[in-house]
Amino acid sequence: MNDETGEWNNHVELGLWADIMLIAPCTANTLAKMASGMSDNLLLATFMSARCPVIFSPAMDLDMFEHLGVQENIKTLENQGHTYLEPASGSLASGLVGKGRMPEPEELFENISEILYSGKKWAGKKIVISAGPTHEAIDPVRFIGNYSSGKMGYSIATAFAEQGAQVHLISGPTALDTPKGVHIYPVKSAEEMHRLVIAQFADADVAVMTAAVADYRPKTSSNQKIKKEKTDRLHLELVKNPDILNSIGHSKKETQFVVGFALETENELDNAKGKLERKNANMIVLNSVHAANGVFGSDENKVSIVTKKEVFDIPQMKKSKLAFTLCDIIFEKYENHS
Ligand code: PMT
Repeated sequence: MNDETGEWNNHVELGLWADIMLIAPCTANTLAKMASGMSDNLLLATFMSARCPVIFSPAMDLDMFEHLGVQENIKTLENQGHTYLEPASGSLASGLVGKGRMPEPEELFENISEILYSGKKWAGKKIVISAGPTHEAIDPVRFIGNYSSGKMGYSIATAFAEQGAQVHLISGPTALDTPKGVHIYPVKSAEEMHRLVIAQFADADVAVMTAAVADYRPKTSSNQKIKKEKTDRLHLELVKNPDILNSIGHSKKETQFVVGFALETENELDNAKGKLERKNANMIVLNSVHAANGVFGSDENKVSIVTKKEVFDIPQMKKSKLAFTLCDIIFEKYENHS
């Protein structure tokens, strides 16, 4: 119970919540308590209730580290299935030199990543995803936009992240929560989205462009709200936005793989094939506007895959499920593309 607020604090909540637990530096005292199942502080309560992998990284003076009791405790914890990280050698706080230093944070991080992502097919790959609509400002309170909800792009970001990828999601305005483990870059306009996609794509492995980018924006946007009393007619001059998919398609390296989406209302397949060619993409995901419930904002989607070599349909399904199917298809095409 919290003395100040009177609220109940669940002492095992952190242990149940975590995906992985790292105890570093792990002192001789904590090591002994962990090995003997003691729980007299929050760290130990968290350790004992953790359902996730636990890594412990002992750090202490060299003679303490060599002590039989410490070595026994390390073995006990390893036998319990926890991962032991050996201390590094070097200068110690005592002034002595030897084994007992905590490894560098970068090394600890690498170990965490290896355990978290081992066996996951997209581990170690960087994926850039665009999602949602863009808003092209007319004045401070009005914009040109579209009905994209971002659901398709966010589902794909979730699927890639769950398969171990480092996901960078460049998102237009949506009402969705950021998927777990995904780096998000909120943007409004196509020009902003263009800049960020280009910057993130430079060292990426795959790009998946699901955003419904406005093809045009007002040539100028007013600093003040446009007043209707001033005129009965308002003419907006529109200029073309940069084509993001086209930019990365034509600048991609041989190793990089670029996926575009296409939303067509007529000559769907021919137009999708044209986009694949013109924008130099490796693959186009063609939405069927005839899918029951529509495409924009719906929880479901029905798509066809278009590459230079083949065209095939995927049955209508939930976007959350389709995202994993696309993730697998992209993996197969990416692996064999160069
Ligand atoms: O967000 P949801 O509600 O879940 O809906 C999902 C979706 C329908 C938005 C999505 O599945 C989709 O089809 N996205 C692309 C829609 C679209 O704008 O298609 P397009 O045919 O106009 O563009 C073709 C491709 O070029 C797309 O990958 C698009 O991101 C890209 N593009 C287009 C214009 C532009 N200026 N820059 C681009 O990068």
